[in-house]
Amino acid sequence: MSQLLCSEHVGYQGRQLCVEEVRLSRIAAEFGTPCFVYSRAALTSAFESFDSPFGASAHLICYAVKANSNLAILQLFARLGSGFDIVSGGELARVLKAGADPRRVVFSGVGKRVDEMEFALDAGILCFNVESQSELQRLSQVAHARGVVAPVSIRVNPDVDPKTHPYISTGLKNNKFGVPFEQARALYREASALPGIRISGIDCHIGSQITEIPPFLDALEKVLGLVDSLHADGIELDHLDLGGGLGIRYRDESPPAPNAYIGALLEALAGRSQRILLEPGRALVGNAGLLLTRVEYLKHGTERNFAVVDAAMNDLMRPALYEAWHDIVPVQQQADGERVERYEIVGPVCESGDFLGHDRDLSLAPGSLLAVMSAGAYGMAMSSNYNTRPRAAEVLIDGAQAHLIRRRETIEELLGGDNLLP
Ligand code: LLP
Repeated sequence: MSQLLCSEHVGYQGRQLCVEEVRLSRIAAEFGTPCFVYSRAALTSAFESFDSPFGASAHLICYAVKANSNLAILQLFARLGSGFDIVSGGELARVLKAGADPRRVVFSGVGKRVDEMEFALDAGILCFNVESQSELQRLSQVAHARGVVAPVSIRVNPDVDPKTHPYISTGLKNNKFGVPFEQARALYREASALPGIRISGIDCHIGSQITEIPPFLDALEKVLGLVDSLHADGIELDHLDLGGGLGIRYRDESPPAPNAYIGALLEALAGRSQRILLEPGRALVGNAGLLLTRVEYLKHGTERNFAVVDAAMNDLMRPALYEAWHDIVPVQQQADGERVERYEIVGPVCESGDFLGHDRDLSLAPGSLLAVMSAGAYGMAMSSNYNTRPRAAEVLIDGAQAHLIRRRETIEELLGGDNLLP
């Protein structure tokens, strides 16, 4: 490819934007727009970039399903040997359907319901990442009543600033996540005496889209201090779950490469025997996907020009929710001398917050195709049916082949759950 974009598997061949060997113009013609398009090669190499730096050290990469929960993507990771980090019974159902081994599944989240605990106990998951004393007590009762033992880690909140967007930082004292660091040791002691509970590990996750290594090391240092205190209390752990959160490049960020991040963790972990778990989400899928959309209308205003495209905030919420910046590029690269204008790239949803990008210099006409880059993580997974818009199709490219991994929703499906009054 002549010019690479978010991944070495996405770029222009001639003037045509391609994912692997497939032109996106062909995908739009075959499957319509808006459409999420993923590269199998990019997903595979992202997984390997996390898995291989561990070498012979005991570890498990638990892909954070929330980032992108399409069954084909979960299946691909399961086949590569991935474990999974889930946050609901629905995500557990997905990973089981995708063929995952339940003994490679960890269950995070602050609000696990009884039925979700029962489902996960029956499935035989690797570990519950417990986030509060009341959750621990409930899990003990549920497991004991079923005559089984729940493996647990306590998710500790290390009070470390990950220096990311406030909506996606989770490891600060004022966040709802995890058990306050000062209370964790006592809670472990309580856990060690509860029926139906087996202490398996410790867990910590400080936030998302973290673009530097020090916050991870600060959190790890605190966790290791606690591991040593627990050892003094006679509590031994099988694994240390260090969460996810490694950032990706959307624009000009320069996050550490996975091998640099993992190398730094392994250095700090030297001499420890516990298995290491990581829960990456975004870094495995974010730059392996894009959102393909078509320009419906151009509106040339007095102050601003608008390009109204057929994708909207319901398809990709990140710009509206976090003011996130995603690159937006033409599917057919402009020729020299074509007139470029500055546009607001907006969707059809009736909200002023419905934008995909501000101030983008592009040469557009109605019908032009655009690719919103780095949309593989928290794109489709956070989409909604707002404005009764059917959710987009999803296509996975594998070499020269295009697999439809989720068909576009129909309006009938959207209306199907509602009931009219008698
Ligand atoms: N583990 C836990 C317990 C988490 O809460 C998360 C993400 C992850 C792992 C994966 O984090 P990652 O590696 O993807 O950073 N919707 C937001 C991101 C929310 C992240 C929530 N938790 C966004 O679009 O930026």
